[in-house]
Amino acid sequence: MKNISPLQKARAEYKVKLPKSLLNGANVEIITGKSTESVNDQEKIKKLFPNTYGMPILKFKKTDAAKHSPINIGVVLSGGQAPGGHNVIAGLFDGIKSINDKSKLYGFLGGPGGLIDNEFMEITKEFLADYRNTGGFDIIGSGRTKLELPEHFDKAAKNCKNLDINAIVIIGGDDSNTNACLLAEYYCAKKIPIQVIGCPKTIDGDLKNEQIETSFGFDTACKVYSEMIGNLERDANSAKKYWHFIKLMGRSASHITLECALQTHPNITLIGEEIAEKKQKLNEIIDAIATVIAKRAEKGLNYGIVLVPEGLVEFIPEIKVLITELNDLMALKHEAFDSFTNEEDKIEFITRKLSPDSAQTYLTLPIIIRKQLIMDRDPHGNVQVSRIETEKLLIEMLDLRLKAWKAEGLYNGKFSALSHFFGYEGRCAAPSNFDADYCYSLGYTAAALVGAGKTGYMASVRNISKPATEWEAGGVPVTMMMNVERRHGEDKPVIQKALVRLDGAPFLALVKNREKWEIKNKYVYPGPIQYFGPSEVCDQITRTLELEQS
Ligand code: FBP
Repeated sequence: MKNISPLQKARAEYKVKLPKSLLNGANVEIITGKSTESVNDQEKIKKLFPNTYGMPILKFKKTDAAKHSPINIGVVLSGGQAPGGHNVIAGLFDGIKSINDKSKLYGFLGGPGGLIDNEFMEITKEFLADYRNTGGFDIIGSGRTKLELPEHFDKAAKNCKNLDINAIVIIGGDDSNTNACLLAEYYCAKKIPIQVIGCPKTIDGDLKNEQIETSFGFDTACKVYSEMIGNLERDANSAKKYWHFIKLMGRSASHITLECALQTHPNITLIGEEIAEKKQKLNEIIDAIATVIAKRAEKGLNYGIVLVPEGLVEFIPEIKVLITELNDLMALKHEAFDSFTNEEDKIEFITRKLSPDSAQTYLTLPIIIRKQLIMDRDPHGNVQVSRIETEKLLIEMLDLRLKAWKAEGLYNGKFSALSHFFGYEGRCAAPSNFDADYCYSLGYTAAALVGAGKTGYMASVRNISKPATEWEAGGVPVTMMMNVERRHGEDKPVIQKALVRLDGAPFLALVKNREKWEIKNKYVYPGPIQYFGPSEVCDQITRTLELEQS
């Protein structure tokens, strides 16, 4: 018996929707827009990408054009999992087959490392059948190997040449798409006939701009977390004895936290970007949370829900400075740092190298957080915020603060807190209808871009708050999204991360309502994602998208 649930079986039959321009297949007419510029640092980016800078935005129009010669694509899944990745691959497969049914799709295994090390498999119709509309990246696996050195690019070219591959499609977040663009530029400069196309993936929701309205996976992941938050709200409201501190994934940006707050109406929502803007110190954040806890306690409500974005620590001014210093020190002094085997010695070494202010901040943090702050960086040099237990840091500091307030007669409640971290639970969920359609369309769009001979582009599907037939497919030059940022102690061209905009409609909707949600319970219990049933239940888009596009 096959290891497949009845839901998955039924879900395999789901008919994905495509934008109108792709309904005759991925052989499309290309409508070319005006030439583009990078978001910032134009001269620097232009110099680094002489061949792929300034290309126009592309839109597709349906045609009955004659079939094309076969195209062979190598696809790579890069970085953290996001619901819908399998459908991008399904869209890519169906797209190239619509162009010519002799086209082939190869999957490089385990992320960009597979492309460098020549680990691959051919994706066939039969093999793909079990993966359509499923979550996860297990079809070919993912990885975080950085594809950025000329020797990597040369190895990848050799491996593609052996398979007669015309194009590489990289399904990844901002860093992976930045590297996709470096690869495209390198191949153009060396006249290597391999195109490179990117696809916007990340549950974090921070790979977005005017052309990329959302990254895939955000919709499903937020719905999964919101279901779980709703369940905790109901539990809190039933037992009336716990404060639940819920950290939500999202690395730097607080989009997931904001979306989940709009879906569930918790008592307290911390938004990293607001904390940075107000330059709120850790102590001030603790005071603000403690004030709400005390106000609720006065009404006999010794329970509640607090949402904490994963990247919070990086937005608290004194901790941000500390992390920047730690990142630079760990990159520049890594030999000395790595020579210590004991964590206490590492802490002592690094504390001595920090500026006096940062050393003081570092030493006031609980030892467990100090250790977590010097854990290995990710391959892009970033601190791995998913492994820093901010929710526990807040609980520990609040416990002390509330005890002090109690001693002064300022608080007379009971503070019993539980910590949660929702992240990995949502990244491989079966895609919502929205993500199933959006991802399939992105894959199909990538196939059309390859068919049109384009390189250095990211697949873009716009107008996505409307029904799929009104979606607009096309391509956006990756250089258009770039600026220069400091990484590993060096200036690097990178796609600009989209943080929560404090003047944006989603954040303003939170601001308008959050005071009401503090004391009065206005909890919403969204329930699980529905795949079958009335459209108003099954095809809901995120509140973020709805508010941004209304
Ligand atoms: P991507 O940016 O690669 O999409 O990854 C997103 C993410 O889920 C973050 O939210 C989280 O901080 C990180 O991955 C966790 O990384 P890992 O899977 O390596 O533990």
